[in-house]
Amino acid sequence: MPSLNCPIMDHYHEEFDALLAAFNINDFARSFERLINQTVEHFTHEEALMKEHHFQGYSEHKEEHQKILNELAYFYEMTQNGRMVFAKNYIQHGIRERFDLHIGNIDSQLALFLKQHNACLS
Ligand SMILES: [Fe+2]
Ligand SMILES: [Fe+2]
Repeated sequence: MPSLNCPIMDHYHEEFDALLAAFNINDFARSFERLINQTVEHFTHEEALMKEHHFQGYSEHKEEHQKILNELAYFYEMTQNGRMVFAKNYIQHGIRERFDLHIGNIDSQLALFLKQHNACLS
């Protein structure tokens, strides 16, 4: 995942990378739960930063977070229903692109804004 040069945000993206790299396909539900929990933390943290610094694009950004969370919940539910093929495919191929797009298109704008406000250091 490309760095945004904003440590307070990059931290969560790097942590996500590490979790995805450590994803254990044989312990699928638990690995998936870890990804979901970390993502909730990551998004909650960004939303708090946006509020704190009165970022204009807050609602749109939050909406995008919600879409991703819904997507994760949808695929997680599939694993619970035994429809593993789709969930595995998502973890192995879809999720990376999904996060890269979010970070490249949306988080990057927030990172720029935080940099301008000297708010990138954790
Ligand atoms: Fe992010
Ligand atoms: Fe974000």
